[in-house]
Amino acid sequence: MPNPRLPEKHNYLEVQDLKKTFVDKKRTVEAIKSISFGIAKGEMVGLLGPNGAGKTTTIKSILGLIKPDSGIVKVDSIDCAANPREAAKRMAAVLEGARNTYWRLTVWENMQFFAGIHGVCAAENKEYFEYLLETLKLQDRRDTEVRNLSSGYKQKTAVACALAKKTPLVFLDEPTLGLDVESSYELRAALKRLQSEEQRTIVVSSHDMKVIQDVCSRVIIISNGRVVADDNIDDLLSLFRTRNYRIVVSKNAYMQHPELLMAELSQGFPQADINETPDTVEIAVEFTNPFEIYDLINTLSGFRVAIESITQEQVDLEKAFLEIVRREDGVCG
Ligand SMILES: Nc1ncnc2c1ncn2[C@@H]1O[C@H](COP(=O)(O)OP(=O)(O)OP(=O)(O)O)[C@@H](O)[C@H]1O
Ligand SMILES: [Mg+2]
Repeated sequence: MPNPRLPEKHNYLEVQDLKKTFVDKKRTVEAIKSISFGIAKGEMVGLLGPNGAGKTTTIKSILGLIKPDSGIVKVDSIDCAANPREAAKRMAAVLEGARNTYWRLTVWENMQFFAGIHGVCAAENKEYFEYLLETLKLQDRRDTEVRNLSSGYKQKTAVACALAKKTPLVFLDEPTLGLDVESSYELRAALKRLQSEEQRTIVVSSHDMKVIQDVCSRVIIISNGRVVADDNIDDLLSLFRTRNYRIVVSKNAYMQHPELLMAELSQGFPQADINETPDTVEIAVEFTNPFEIYDLINTLSGFRVAIESITQEQVDLEKAFLEIVRREDGVCG
């Protein structure tokens, strides 16, 4: 039951039961079977999913570039199907590695042009455009024709043009595709800065989990045209946190019979993987309940060995993602 004293979270973007099937001569593809989610103003949300999951189709349907078969999309409470022009004013996008800029225009001219057709006047927003160039580390390329830029700079120019439209909602479909490590870091830093300084609502799709984990606090995972997870990244990771430990103890002067320790460990913790080196004993073990580690510590304490380190295996978004999609495939497959 929702708590009546808490104000209801207002979604800036609302997607309800979106469906889209592509039919051509050869085949019918149910690209999105049922997609629903809501995103509040100022959120930066990651959209993840395997190839062909339906991410781009979802984004294009929200933007009105594809007509969904059914479902409701609302942006700022405006029904996109009923009032597409008003909805479009509130959204900008960079689609799937597309560098939809004019190659014979400079970076600045492109920003001017794309912002202009969205009703944002460059002369009145000069300071803001400079801020975007600085944030995206494009200042040096300001007056370079796009055709003379490397692919990474072209990509960043496309992002700058989308942001220059000053829309509250921005979609970035694979924004770091083809960027080198440094440019990818720069773009991530730029997105974080924009989100903290401007409170834009940004949806980022990427196959690079590090990008999503770095810039987004929440992730929506799509698989086979359906949302299979929608959670804060920390909460999602905690679901997959294992109790896998690696404990290293050193054989010290007290320990005259390491074979006794090895025997006791093998007997007490048959699931453990135990390796002896000349100076240490390394124990890798997965506990099923959180208190079992005390039993191990007690055993080690009985032998008066020094514990050098205890580490817990870290779960990252990639592992959690693969596990969710694998389970889902198992259910649907
Ligand atoms: N215009 C189209 N005509 C026919 N089928 C299409 C069309 N666009 C997409 N599809 C199909 O719809 C499904 C979903 O595609 P979509 O591009 O939305 O996936 P995606 O999650 O963005 O994948 P990727 O990670 O590869 O970008 C795929 O099976 C794709 O082949
Ligand atoms: Mg795609």
